[in-house]
Amino acid sequence: MKDKCVLVGISGGIAAFKICSLVSSLKKKGNDVHVLMTKEAEQFVTPLTLQTLSGNRVIRDLFSLDENPEVHHIALARKADVFVIAPATGNIIAKIANGIADDMLTSTFLAADCPKLIVPAMNTYMLENPVTQDNIAKCASYGMHILDSASGYLACGDTGKGRMPEASVIQDAIEMVVSKDRYLSGKRVLVSAGPTREALDPVRYVTNHSSGKMGYELAKAARNAGAEVTLVAGANNLEDPVGIDVIPIVSAADLAEEILARQSESDIIIMAAAVADYTPVSRADQKIKKSEGEFSIPMKRTVDVLAALGKRKREGQILIGFAMETQNLIENASKKLAAKNADYIIANSIADEGAGFGVDTNIVTIISKEGLNPLGLLSKEETAERILEFCVKRED
Ligand code: CTP
Repeated sequence: MKDKCVLVGISGGIAAFKICSLVSSLKKKGNDVHVLMTKEAEQFVTPLTLQTLSGNRVIRDLFSLDENPEVHHIALARKADVFVIAPATGNIIAKIANGIADDMLTSTFLAADCPKLIVPAMNTYMLENPVTQDNIAKCASYGMHILDSASGYLACGDTGKGRMPEASVIQDAIEMVVSKDRYLSGKRVLVSAGPTREALDPVRYVTNHSSGKMGYELAKAARNAGAEVTLVAGANNLEDPVGIDVIPIVSAADLAEEILARQSESDIIIMAAAVADYTPVSRADQKIKKSEGEFSIPMKRTVDVLAALGKRKREGQILIGFAMETQNLIENASKKLAAKNADYIIANSIADEGAGFGVDTNIVTIISKEGLNPLGLLSKEETAERILEFCVKRED
């Protein structure tokens, strides 16, 4: 997400301090960020901080004379691509649910017709009050997106629901709502990501270096394009993406079970997981103790999930696999296209700098029956968007 005009409305809650990092990261990604604050918000975070981070004047006063007319609330509302209110207190939610526009933030909000995201953050009892719940439901009924509060320790000392999600989660939700090209609307997309772990005994397992990033970006790109997305994910350190059904798995057998059970209902299946090809013949019940000499573990083949999907592929279903190679990239990856009856194989080589495990960039070539389409060095986010556009959008 870049080159978007993002309006960030801040109301007066302790979670306001977390918004600084959101504003900073939206700006760093290349967006035009305008902050609007209520008077109460200024008690928790200073306009100067937000002005410095956003690079734009912070908008606070409805009747100030020295404001640039260009940032007059109507002008700003008209050019916004997305309007987020975070934290949204019970008070501001009550106002926007009822069209009250008594300050710069609420007036601009009322004038905006872009996608809107509300991030409620307050004390549990205030949040659970039926009045607040009704107001939230009312906002949702007007088409505003609501980001569910997190649970945990609250600044007031209570523990429960009402915490504002971290800035990275809010950013993910913004990316979901801002997207206008919903070319996957009505489609179900199933994605696998991350490594599998094959247990040897209660303390050890065999795995690989997959971070899950590429699969997560594909799942998010499909979600942003309007799809209903299920993500079957091996162990990783990534945050669950907003609006995606994440199914955690451990082993190749778990992954096979979860993916194959969902094949018939899926329109597009993307196998980005690094699935173990072998698993120990048996898992020891107790920790294996060392002894002198060499040690070997009898291994057996796992199910090749992509090949199994390819055998049962139904008319119109799109199957996308990956091929991570260290040599003869195109030759090896092309063989997988035919052997597994996939529609596309996304080939990448860990020998290339900027590609492969762990890093935020990738260099892939999309292989199909028609030929090769190299994408070059891109962020994994952009790689995911381009893969979907190439493999899915052009099918329509
Ligand atoms: N794959 C799978 N099930 C497996 C192994 C791999 O579904 N048991 C999928 C991967 O998710 C990927 C594709 O098959 O989409 C290719 O995986 P890769 O590990 O590159 O190739 P393999 O088929 O395992 O072949 P090899 O390891 O011999 O290169």
